[in-house]
Amino acid sequence: MKLFFYPFILFALLVSALGFITNADNKSITTRATLGKKLFSEKILSADSSISCASCHKPEYAFADTVALSIGIHNIEGNRNTPSVLNMKNRPYFFWDGRAASLAEQSLIPMADHNEMGLPVAEAVQRLNKNVSYKNLFLKIFKQKPNAKNLSAAFAAYEQTLETVDSRFDDWANGDGQLTIAEENGRQLFIGEKAKCFDCHFREDFTSDEFKNIGLFNGNFLTDSGRYRITKKESDMGKFKIPGLRNVAVTAPYMHNGMFATLQEVLRYYNNPKGFFPHQVNIDSAFNKPLGLTQKEQDDIISFLKTLTDKAYIKKNKLRIF
Ligand code: HEC
Ligand code: HEC
Repeated sequence: MKLFFYPFILFALLVSALGFITNADNKSITTRATLGKKLFSEKILSADSSISCASCHKPEYAFADTVALSIGIHNIEGNRNTPSVLNMKNRPYFFWDGRAASLAEQSLIPMADHNEMGLPVAEAVQRLNKNVSYKNLFLKIFKQKPNAKNLSAAFAAYEQTLETVDSRFDDWANGDGQLTIAEENGRQLFIGEKAKCFDCHFREDFTSDEFKNIGLFNGNFLTDSGRYRITKKESDMGKFKIPGLRNVAVTAPYMHNGMFATLQEVLRYYNNPKGFFPHQVNIDSAFNKPLGLTQKEQDDIISFLKTLTDKAYIKKNKLRIF
């Protein structure tokens, strides 16, 4: 008789332990940002529950992906490289072509995108309402059941916490540390007339938040016309959002189409963009002449770029949880 009940007792204990663990987990979720963090790796927000935001924006790689083009649901390959979502707080627009004007507006787009998560927003909201744990969290934090607006507000609140300002460059800028000779030489080149990087990559996150064309559109094998798709202005042909460069050493491959695998390739390209591809359309006048950087100079610029890596990504085994 007793033996007969044991499995039931064990089962009941297990269920209550699991309930306790989930509850304890949810107890720490008290703000929009912590709820957004949980949702960021929530797979039920994709059509077949196979991927989450974090499948492409991988926290361990500065919230970027390690492949040129990410794979969405049903193994569909996307058509642009996944950018880092760190240091988004001060950006005026999002996506390589700037088609979203706020993080909240942006966040529901990948969910519904057929190539990414493929789940209509209404259905995502329905799933969250059916899930008791999520429903309670939304009621606790927003005093409302899950809806499209509070869902996007949670994502945006989380993404706004993802600022990185603790790099060796920041130490140097704050007068707390030194750069090596190669890094300092790279910094001088970066801001100088010869390499011109600073024409476009400036301000605290190393972007002027403008759209520029560095020559990666020729209408032939480089077919993404970028900003032009949104504005339909000839002058925007082949322009893309200037990406910030914080943590860039961690976010390979590079550019809107992920065509360069390493920073070495990026620098080799910048050194003579016009010598790389035929028929570049509307390339920026900054590249009218080859830059003429020596190999050593290119290497030094890369050394400088590496100083922009947040320490969370340098202490490999002690990744700070963002
Ligand atoms: C299948 C891969 C994939 C998934 C899943 C995905 N993203 Fe993205 N994300 C991308 C790609 C690719 C882009 C760039 C698209 C473009 O520019 O057209 C992007 C762009 C962004 C940007 C803009 C970054 C910038 O530099 O402007 C943000 C913010 C973002 N995603 C957040 C999210 C959130 C939040 C989710 C989950 C709801 C999510 N992403 C899910 C691949 C993905
Ligand atoms: C005229 C403006 C301009 C100048 C000058 C410029 N960049 Fe860029 N940079 C951009 C734009 C725009 C992109 C994105 C282009 C694309 O994807 O088609 C970019 C992309 C990059 C990327 C890839 C980042 C990523 O996340 O994929 C790196 C690295 C980079 N630039 C470094 C540099 C360095 C180093 C220099 C100087 C040698 C430099 N840039 C000069 C505008 C510029």
